[in-house]
Amino acid sequence: MDEVMKTAVPLLLEWYRVCKRDLPWRKQRTFYSVLVSELMLQQTRVEAVKERYVAFMRQFPSPAALAAADEDAVLKAWEGLGYYSRARNLKKAAERIAEEGYPTDVRGVRALPGVGDYTAGAISSIALGLAEPAVDGNVLRILSRLYADKSNVDEPATKARYAALLRAAYPKETGDFCEALMELGAIVCVPNGAPLCGGCPWAGLCRAHLANSEEDLPVRAPKKARRVVEARVAVLRCGGKYALEKRPAKGLLAGLWQFPFFEGEMPFFGETVAQKRAVHIFTHVEWRMEGRLVEVAAPLPQYVWASADEIRRIYALPSAFKAFMQWVI
Ligand code: ADE
Repeated sequence: MDEVMKTAVPLLLEWYRVCKRDLPWRKQRTFYSVLVSELMLQQTRVEAVKERYVAFMRQFPSPAALAAADEDAVLKAWEGLGYYSRARNLKKAAERIAEEGYPTDVRGVRALPGVGDYTAGAISSIALGLAEPAVDGNVLRILSRLYADKSNVDEPATKARYAALLRAAYPKETGDFCEALMELGAIVCVPNGAPLCGGCPWAGLCRAHLANSEEDLPVRAPKKARRVVEARVAVLRCGGKYALEKRPAKGLLAGLWQFPFFEGEMPFFGETVAQKRAVHIFTHVEWRMEGRLVEVAAPLPQYVWASADEIRRIYALPSAFKAFMQWVI
């Protein structure tokens, strides 16, 4: 094992034992609970996941329960978390597990729907006790700083190098090590702004810290600009019901419900009662929306018409439309 890691691993584990956050998915660790939490945590903040994880596990306590559930109910339980394909994949993974049982090695884990290299490493090390690295943006950041490594962390070769380094450094507490790396990246070596080196177990050996260059690392490729979409959103009201439509089966927010949505101009439906603008930022796209509340005389047949209560209970409406929900009473 690399000399730096020899010192870094026990320091990190000791720090983790003392400082780790009390998070719901750290209380019981079954394969299923790790699968659910890791899929929820992909691209989503811990704070946003906490409550939803508990509610999800209550509603779908086992792979069998999730496999048997209605996809719409699963999407509803995922409402607001974004990246809804994760919910569909999680359900598919549960179906496979209900049929075939749990995988027992990293290849089996990686083959589950929705599980990429990072998540396969996390699940394998946390749930199966395997020395499988999980390298995400947080891990790339902390390691690039620990080694004062100026390699571009967006290069697959950099990731592969760190994965190999971690694989060789794994202690027997594989799950704690994996989560400790994430934890350090989340609460000490933070992604935005200055790292909190005063509380870092690696402060004495971190080469970036010793050279005062923490904030120059990691080196990343410049981000591509987001595509801007100008859209109109029609909140059509008719006798206490509202028009909904399903988004296309492919692409952004695939198959989720929305208020009638128009890229470009909106057809005339009736008198506009209220109007407001809202912006929603996705990873690669930015929606600049003009929303209109319109009273219509008769329900147009191309839409599903739902009451406010039904919208709240049944239809998963992405957060992008939250600003317009204030009209739904
Ligand atoms: N992000 C991804 N997985 C996580 C975990 N197990 N704990 C905290 N943050 C995470």
